[in-house]
Amino acid sequence: MQQIAMINDRILPYEALEPVYLDRAFYFGDGVYEVIRSYNGKIFALDEHLNRFSNSLIAIGINSIDIEDIRTRVKQAYDEALMPNARIYFHITRGSAPRNHSYSDDLKPNFFLTVTELQDSKQVKKSGIAVSTFPDWRWKRCDIKSLNLLANVLAKQDAVSKGCDEAILVDENGFITEGSSSAFFAVFDNRLQTAPLVSNILPSITRKYVIKAAENINMTVTEESLTPEKAKSADELFIAVTTKDIVPVVRFDGNVVKDGKPGRYTEKLMEEFKHFIN
Ligand code: PDD
Repeated sequence: MQQIAMINDRILPYEALEPVYLDRAFYFGDGVYEVIRSYNGKIFALDEHLNRFSNSLIAIGINSIDIEDIRTRVKQAYDEALMPNARIYFHITRGSAPRNHSYSDDLKPNFFLTVTELQDSKQVKKSGIAVSTFPDWRWKRCDIKSLNLLANVLAKQDAVSKGCDEAILVDENGFITEGSSSAFFAVFDNRLQTAPLVSNILPSITRKYVIKAAENINMTVTEESLTPEKAKSADELFIAVTTKDIVPVVRFDGNVVKDGKPGRYTEKLMEEFKHFIN
């Protein structure tokens, strides 16, 4: 009698499994992550991302992490990469242990980081993207940047299968929450509207800067949920995310948004956003 594991078609003793196969993120998505970017050799909004990371860790009860140590690791890896425009993903999982929903408090968290080149998004910012709606099947703590992303993955894949670039999630009351991996905004006249920051969406860092940019150019900002019907009638739509900042939306569920071109205010916001980068 012996305990066995099988990796693809290879059988091995259970005891010989590498820790990565016993990582709780693998079984349960039991971990949190962050995504940061750099512009021209400078990491953007590092403090905000580290702060959100810390909040995510505390929310799931991983209390042993020194955020200053994470800051050092991020900088060290970024310096090593010598990459002006990079995307830095880092993850902390609760640790590796034999599969069991409950966990022991003394597990050692695993850390995993990548620095990869960020593709230029100029073209997509110029032409805009198409989006389609999908039910928001996620859990009730979307403010935690959790590694459980299956609902986001299924939503995005549905959008891609329809020739769209992003899925806009709609909750059971018929309101838009956010994109599958972005914040969502509408413009009506000179008013910017986006969902309020409650636990059903991620406190997007880009969202915060978009709101600042809107205030700088004297737009009114309404943090209020909107329906897909209302979104279809907007003057302008766009999404916002760390890796691309502002991206105009020119099609919403097959409907052309106004004249099908990136809107005037969206372009102004993109310009204003550049001041935060430099
Ligand atoms: N996601 N909402 C969701 C569900 C997201 O996954 C993201 C970002 C955002 C935008 O957040 P921020 O402005 O802080 O990037 C909103 C990324 C980049 C990802 O998970 O790959």
